[in-house]
Amino acid sequence: MTSAVLVTGGAGYIGSHIVAALARAGRASVILDNFQNSSPGVVARLVRLAGTPIPLVEGDVRDAGVLRATFAAHRIGAVVHCAGMKAVGESSARPLAYWDVNLNGTVRLAEAMGEAGVATLVFSSSCTVYGQPDALPVGEDAPLRPASVYGRTKRAVEEFLRDLAGADARWRIAILRYMNPAGAHPSALIGEAPLGRPNNLVPLMCRAVAGEFDEVPIFGTDWPTPDGTGIRDYIHVDDLAEGHLAALDHLGSHPGVLTLNLGAGRGYSVLEVVGAFEKACGRPVPKVVAPRRDGDIASVYADASRALALLGWRATRGLDAICEDAWRWQRAGGRYA
Ligand code: UD1
Repeated sequence: MTSAVLVTGGAGYIGSHIVAALARAGRASVILDNFQNSSPGVVARLVRLAGTPIPLVEGDVRDAGVLRATFAAHRIGAVVHCAGMKAVGESSARPLAYWDVNLNGTVRLAEAMGEAGVATLVFSSSCTVYGQPDALPVGEDAPLRPASVYGRTKRAVEEFLRDLAGADARWRIAILRYMNPAGAHPSALIGEAPLGRPNNLVPLMCRAVAGEFDEVPIFGTDWPTPDGTGIRDYIHVDDLAEGHLAALDHLGSHPGVLTLNLGAGRGYSVLEVVGAFEKACGRPVPKVVAPRRDGDIASVYADASRALALLGWRATRGLDAICEDAWRWQRAGGRYA
């Protein structure tokens, strides 16, 4: 029997798409999730997509006992660590929770991996570690100046992982800095299902067009960008998921630490994304100009050439596919029962 990949946060938005991509590649997963910001209903959908059972461990990544039991019960060869808290705004109000879950969760996980003799780890980091870069597109060697508590927890975990690998040459670690993941699996069986009012642009547009919310606030039209709205690098969640598989393959033959941006490598303004979404759904997005949001930056998009050079990976699905797939998911309900 081949070994499985443990996906922490595997019921979440990105984790679920990684589990689906692993299944497409014929690889087994084990999901660890505490359902703090996800729904158990995703697991049945993933089993339908995979056509095989997918073991689920309901538990917290900070819980050493749960981790030990998970590694004991399953033959795990590698870990993709997505479990964490990720709302920029909330992080400044709840620093204790963000530092505890994001940093301590990773420390406990690394401890359990060490005990179990599992040395291959892919970590979900974020382009938010850069803050507002001096030059665009931003490459992996740019200075790290995160502007939020959330971003500082990601930077700290990255440092922790480099320290680990520096002390023990057996570790094989990929630090993946995501740009802005969006879209959904084309089956519309899985997608982004935030609990409560979405913070992020694409899910908020989905629900606003569906009539669940009044208007999408456009957070600032006075940014130093061509149309005055913020520019981001939107990457289809299935491209992102496939990047994790490519990183796992690479780690198989390359010990040490690899740090990579995963992005499409081009930026779109908020108004361009709204326009693409309107085209995809054939309806206007209700919107209203609002003040800038705290912690936002003007513009960021990735230099994704290192991922292409080292992994042979690049994003292949564009903004139209992102919007079409997000809207298909919304029309199918946009949540798990
Ligand atoms: C942020 C973080 C990212 C993090 C993600 C998770 C940065 C650069 N990125 O993405 O690392 O993983 O949150 O939550 O810090 N917008 C509106 N109206 C809205 C919502 C968003 O105008 O209602 C605008 C934002 O100002 C921004 C763009 O849309 O220009 C994208 O925002 P969002 O989808 O929230 O993602 P980020 O803040 O870029």
